[in-house]
Amino acid sequence: RKILVLHGPNLNLLGVREPQHYGRDTLDDINRRLASQAKSAGFELEALQSNAEHELIDRIHAALDDGTEFVIINPAAFTHTSVAVRDALSGVKLPFIEVHLSNVHAREPFRHHSYFSDVAVGVICGLGAHGYELALAHALRVLAAKA
Ligand code: DQA
Repeated sequence: RKILVLHGPNLNLLGVREPQHYGRDTLDDINRRLASQAKSAGFELEALQSNAEHELIDRIHAALDDGTEFVIINPAAFTHTSVAVRDALSGVKLPFIEVHLSNVHAREPFRHHSYFSDVAVGVICGLGAHGYELALAHALRVLAAKA
């Protein structure tokens, strides 16, 4: 049983990129913690970061028949621009949680709108890297109840 974690553009720079907004953890730090959290609950976790919209879309399509049961996604800047990634998630009908490291509502107005939030199970923002762990805790609870 698999959970897919998707990281959008520029998140490969975590750790060095604007730490006042995004913290000091690298993407590897975050992915490693998530993988062990999932493993303790008996789930597999796969993480992908891409700067390319079509790679995220193709990975979401592949999730249709690779055993993925839940998606956690930080669409990064695509949050505010991508009807295509939103449509991919709606297309595969997999439940997903939208995560942002920073509190997007406390930042520039163009970050206040998300193409994902109204079709997400839920949204976590402003809690830094911990937000991913909280999203995963929720996904694991939901999936455990589904057995
Ligand atoms: C982000 C917020 C977005 O507005 C921004 O473009 C990002 C990261 C976050 O995690 O806080 O790249 O999704």
